[in-house]
Amino acid sequence: MNDRLPVMICIFFFVFEEGTNALTVTSPTEINASLGSGSTIVLNCSVEKETGDHVTQISWMKKNETRNEYRKIVSYYQSVALYHDPDMKNRSNSISFDDSSPSAILNISEVQCKDDGRYQCIVGYINSNGIGADTRTETSVYIQVMADIPEFTIQPANTTLEKYSAVILSCSANVGRPGGIVTIWKQSHISDERIQLGNSSSSVTDTGNCSDYANLLITYNLSRSDDGFSFGCTSKNKHTNDPAPSKEEGPRTILYGEDRSYETLSSGTTPRNLEERNYESLSNGMTDTYSSIDERDLRVGEGAQYEYLGSGETHTYSSIQPTVSM
Ligand SMILES: *[C@@H]1O[C@H](CO)[C@@H](O)[C@H](O)[C@H]1NC(C)=O
Ligand SMILES: *[C@@H]1O[C@H](CO)[C@@H](O)[C@H](O)[C@H]1NC(C)=O
Ligand SMILES: *[C@@H]1O[C@H](CO)[C@@H](O)[C@H](O)[C@H]1NC(C)=O
Ligand SMILES: *[C@@H]1O[C@H](CO)[C@@H](O)[C@H](O)[C@H]1NC(C)=O
Ligand SMILES: *[C@@H]1O[C@H](CO)[C@@H](O)[C@H](O)[C@H]1NC(C)=O
Ligand SMILES: *[C@@H]1O[C@H](CO)[C@@H](O)[C@H](O)[C@H]1NC(C)=O
Ligand SMILES: *[C@@H]1O[C@H](CO)[C@@H](O)[C@H](O)[C@H]1NC(C)=O
Ligand SMILES: *[C@@H]1O[C@H](CO)[C@@H](O)[C@H](O)[C@H]1NC(C)=O
Ligand SMILES: *[C@@H]1O[C@H](CO)[C@@H](O)[C@H](O)[C@H]1NC(C)=O
Repeated sequence: MNDRLPVMICIFFFVFEEGTNALTVTSPTEINASLGSGSTIVLNCSVEKETGDHVTQISWMKKNETRNEYRKIVSYYQSVALYHDPDMKNRSNSISFDDSSPSAILNISEVQCKDDGRYQCIVGYINSNGIGADTRTETSVYIQVMADIPEFTIQPANTTLEKYSAVILSCSANVGRPGGIVTIWKQSHISDERIQLGNSSSSVTDTGNCSDYANLLITYNLSRSDDGFSFGCTSKNKHTNDPAPSKEEGPRTILYGEDRSYETLSSGTTPRNLEERNYESLSNGMTDTYSSIDERDLRVGEGAQYEYLGSGETHTYSSIQPTVSM
């Protein structure tokens, strides 16, 4: 019985607080809109009054894109809306609050890039004690623009390339809004998995037409395992659903020759002059002709490997050091 009293006091204060201060204002926290005349942004600021509250004015404000400053777009009074922004007056309509409908609505019907940003609704009112107060809410509007299909190139463009040669992979796209990235990848014909080679790190925004351009340039060293891989690029932002717009360059054949072992030759002391050898690759049908053995590719020790040097290259050496085992 004794511990009931504090509970009752609590409830009493709760009700009292609600009754005096708690006019509530709601607006959408987030609105996604696309560009164009077919799209609308409905900024709905809705008030829930407590007994005795009297709403005097509601305003929709827009935050400056660079400073923490709000500018008034429309003021609403009982049944009347007053525009402060002539451009907005042209392409929107407003519905003010009245006794039957406690909402102030700004309905933007020709959505433009500059409508992106933060909005604030401020409700000015007089409470039951005759004290003036205001309450506000924030709404973020995100203008969405689709990411475009990227432009993608490989240099050199040859479909047959050599192991250890470098290719320049270049991609650029309008990644839309909010800003996104382009990603360069490679993919084998036997797998759905795209192996990412890099993401763009920044983009250039054109606020005039809501475009956001991202570029990525990668110098990529081909390896033997890239044989049969395609290369491509994808353009996307956080609103892009899969499959994201992408461009692909068909599979590349990588000439890699075969690694070949040589029997160990006796380590003599006589310098040997010009070697003449032909090697035929077993792996991808390529014939490599070498008029000599490049000493860079001779390794000390038994079971040494001879690495492919390039088709038809001629390497001339007057001697090969006798310490090298072949
Ligand atoms: C505005 O919001 C209120 C409260 O959520 C809702 O009752 C009303 O229908 C909305 N008005 C419009 C035009 O969406
Ligand atoms: C935002 O603030 C800057 C600096 O005061 C001003 O030049 C610019 O016109 C403002 N933007 C809008 C949309 O009012
Ligand atoms: C509003 O529209 C009228 C007629 O279409 C046009 O003449 C005027 O320049 C527009 N005002 C603004 C601020 O865009
Ligand atoms: C907003 O304006 C458009 C075009 O004027 C209209 O079709 C739509 O019903 C309006 N929406 C609201 C909630 O007033
Ligand atoms: C790639 O193509 C160019 C021009 O067609 C040619 O000169 C070059 O030898 C080719 N490179 C390879 C690695 O096939
Ligand atoms: C690219 O970015 C995504 C996340 O956006 C990340 O998961 C991925 O690892 C990045 N790829 C590279 C190659 O940095
Ligand atoms: C946006 O403007 C840039 C130049 O500022 C232009 O190159 C680009 O094509 C435009 N994009 C669209 C989608 O209109
Ligand atoms: C590509 O090869 C060049 C020259 O052989 C080397 O300097 C570079 O570090 C290599 N790049 C990568 C990413 O392996
Ligand atoms: C807006 O788009 C983002 C990203 O796609 C999503 O997470 C969010 O839920 C959307 N918000 C609304 C109100 O639809």
